[in-house]
Amino acid sequence: MECLKGRVAIITGAGSGIGEAIAILYAQKAIKVVIADKNEESIRKVVAEVKKISPCVLGVETDVTNQEDLKNLFDQTIREFGTVDILINNAGILDNFMTVDALDLNVWQNVMDVNVKAPAMLSQIVINYWIREKKPGVIINTASVGGMFGARGGVSYVSSKHAVIGLTKNIASVYREDNIRAVAVAPGSVNTNIGNTLKRPNQKGMHALTEYVTAGPLGDPRDIANVIVFLASDEAKFINGTVVTIDGGWTGA
Ligand SMILES: NC(=O)c1ccc[n+]([C@@H]2O[C@H](COP(=O)([O-])OP(=O)(O)OC[C@H]3O[C@@H](n4cnc5c(N)ncnc54)[C@H](O)[C@@H]3O)[C@@H](O)[C@H]2O)c1
Repeated sequence: MECLKGRVAIITGAGSGIGEAIAILYAQKAIKVVIADKNEESIRKVVAEVKKISPCVLGVETDVTNQEDLKNLFDQTIREFGTVDILINNAGILDNFMTVDALDLNVWQNVMDVNVKAPAMLSQIVINYWIREKKPGVIINTASVGGMFGARGGVSYVSSKHAVIGLTKNIASVYREDNIRAVAVAPGSVNTNIGNTLKRPNQKGMHALTEYVTAGPLGDPRDIANVIVFLASDEAKFINGTVVTIDGGWTGA
């Protein structure tokens, strides 16, 4: 069976944007992909796109904040492809540039759940499997330049992306001897659907960005996907526990 050979990658938030671009790139490289997203229609669309390139694709409707959904995602992956080698924790949401004076605890909790708790929960499932089976593995977490600087998002987004970088470094430090790597990427502005979720953003939060930060170049999702695919490959085996910025020079200016 064709799909029983080669590596397997789970990609969360693969129904759109950066995750979708990673899935297409992986299919072109004959890596089997599991498309995990909470949006069923997006999954169907991306699975159809990937199938034009490779038959080795599985779509699993998953709310990454739901532990049962994550267990089901892992179980279905093992059932379909027999293993998992690469985990891309990519699903993420914005917070409308929320400021701390206007803190909405529901928004805070939701952003933390999707952007930090979910990568931790799915990493737990996959790392336990790798350790149990004595298999090497790679985790790539999609952070953001908002995880390194203060004004590239609202308070919960910036806090969550700083936290996911901490999560990445901790995993890399603890599991080095188990042949498990973890790397975070920090994209700048990328042309995806995430911007459509900004609805009447907090003006004070936006002001911090527009007043003190120069406008950066807008990247294509493939600019980020190319780097993520490299970071998860054996060629990048000496890159571990760090953050790779992919922003067209935005934060360098
Ligand atoms: N686009 C940018 O400018 C940019 C910049 C820096 C970092 N990022 C990060 O890149 C990642 C991907 O974002 P994108 O720009 O491709 O956005 P996108 O909105 O195009 O795609 C995100 C996908 O995640 C899915 N998703 C959201 N919540 C989910 C949940 N609870 N469970 C499962 N799936 C869920 C959405 O349905 C969507 O398909 C995010 O972590 C984001 O924070 C994006």
